[in-house]
Amino acid sequence: MKNLLRTLLALASITVAPFAYPDAHAQTGDPARGEYVLATGGCVACHTVEKGGAFLAGGRELKTDFGSFFSPNITPDPETGIGGWSDEDFIKALRKGVSPTGARYYPTFPYTSYARMTVQDIVDLKAYLDSTPAVRNPVPAHDLAFPFKIRMSMIGWQLLFLDDAPFAPDPSQSAEWNRGAYLVTGPGHCGECHSPRNIIGVVDADRALSGYKNGPEGKAVPNITPGPGGIGDWSMDDIVSALEIGMLPDGDFLGGSMTEVVDDNTSKLTPEDREAIATYLTSLKPIASNE
Ligand code: HEC
Ligand code: HEC
Repeated sequence: MKNLLRTLLALASITVAPFAYPDAHAQTGDPARGEYVLATGGCVACHTVEKGGAFLAGGRELKTDFGSFFSPNITPDPETGIGGWSDEDFIKALRKGVSPTGARYYPTFPYTSYARMTVQDIVDLKAYLDSTPAVRNPVPAHDLAFPFKIRMSMIGWQLLFLDDAPFAPDPSQSAEWNRGAYLVTGPGHCGECHSPRNIIGVVDADRALSGYKNGPEGKAVPNITPGPGGIGDWSMDDIVSALEIGMLPDGDFLGGSMTEVVDDNTSKLTPEDREAIATYLTSLKPIASNE
């Protein structure tokens, strides 16, 4: 663990070439489409304080093993929000985890998944955010343990662990399956909670979506592959109902951090998109829960 952290800090001193996005200028954002993209990304859950917080004005405390994060204000306020950001700035934040000044974001902001969002989706989302009310709301600084509080250590983390390959549709699968794969692995960032992680927070890709004992707020997150302990005996309808109204096959309701995923994301999707997610989940390689 110590050696790994030393490596991370050493790597942090390497300079990284600036990123280029030749495709970014070609597209213009559609705010109405962007409002839907916001739902597919579940951004509201982290960027709005649960009770009485101004929409997307940040300040929500997110407790993790590494300390407490306070989500930033992503309204168009020029001083305390992201007013004045270009589309390129916004694309770079979501796909590379890099701020307009070149600082590296912590992966609590799930850009590790948003890296798979299309440029069009991101630009539409930006156009929608630009249309929301600018709210002046300075948020507290993160309260993190050493060495994570050194933001530079994230340069090393990103070099080693950030897979920012764009989403690649699988031509042997249906359009519906590909849409489901996109929503789950990209904007929906389901694996950020449902996949197991190692000690420095890196997702175990071989066991993706098979559940994680130490999820948000220290609570267990279930296996959503069709393997033992997972959702193998759920019908398509069972999955769709869980995503739409949060109801489980036994009549119970989903709780914990999934409540907000249903409220802010999956309940707001079209029926076709919920079915696409169910199609993708039922097609996954079955993995047994790791107890
Ligand atoms: C799981 C919680 C979570 C979700 C979901 C989330 N964010 Fe964030 N976001 C954060 C945190 C925490 C940070 C701060 C990261 C840091 O300081 O390194 C952040 C940072 C950002 C920033 C950088 C702001 C700045 O001032 O530099 C932007 C832009 C952003 N998020 C947009 C979004 C959008 C758009 C979505 C949905 C597609 C989203 N976020 C979803 C937690 C989240
Ligand atoms: C913020 C963390 C988080 C994210 C993101 C998340 N989930 Fe969940 N999910 C949970 C938790 C926690 C539970 C267990 C809820 C409970 O115990 O009532 C759960 C439960 C579920 C269940 C029910 C499984 C069972 O066996 O009861 C399904 C299905 C599910 N999630 C699908 C998804 C999908 C699809 C996505 C992406 C669109 C997603 N989740 C994103 C945290 C998350």
